[in-house]
Amino acid sequence: MRLLSILTTAGALCFGLLWSSAPAAPASSSSPFRSSTSVDTVETKRLRLLMVGLAQDMDRISTGLWHEDYDLMQQGAAAIARHPKIPPEQMKKIKAALENEFQAFVQYDKTVHKTAAELAEAASNENLSRVLDAHTRLRNGCMGCHTAYRDRLRPVLTP
Ligand code: HEC
Repeated sequence: MRLLSILTTAGALCFGLLWSSAPAAPASSSSPFRSSTSVDTVETKRLRLLMVGLAQDMDRISTGLWHEDYDLMQQGAAAIARHPKIPPEQMKKIKAALENEFQAFVQYDKTVHKTAAELAEAASNENLSRVLDAHTRLRNGCMGCHTAYRDRLRPVLTP
């Protein structure tokens, strides 16, 4: 149980980071303390940070499954269903890169939302078979978008 609460706290912390990252100052190229990753400004890395949060929520769902802890499954899924949005400036880059495939990208996002909401509801009802079904579809949704677009978008989003 202690492990679970630590995991939950880690997830919450991560979301806190996502939200609080918005006003961060852009990396200064003259700073001697600049790490190799500090070129990843908030603007260019929002999607990636968001994704790291989604992966942690997926971990919460898995941990919930192994312990048959429906609250944890519900929390992980609900967090995915209401994940923060991709900032408009990144969205513009994605749209320009994908052109007429942009709608398909949006569709993947919508499917993940919908499936996560279904999983959260199934977990609330402690319906294990529906949780498992939604979990498989959710993971397929993540992987579907990655397989289709991740390699193409990474160079666009990372200067
Ligand atoms: C609509 C498309 C889309 C969906 C849906 C999606 N991803 Fe991603 N994901 C991306 C893209 C694009 C990147 C690459 C971002 C980058 O490199 O800046 C990415 C990157 C990642 C990364 C790597 C982060 C890093 O440090 O490089 C993880 C982890 C991840 N996604 C997890 C998930 C999980 C978990 C889900 C499902 C709950 C999910 N993603 C759903 C598009 C998507």
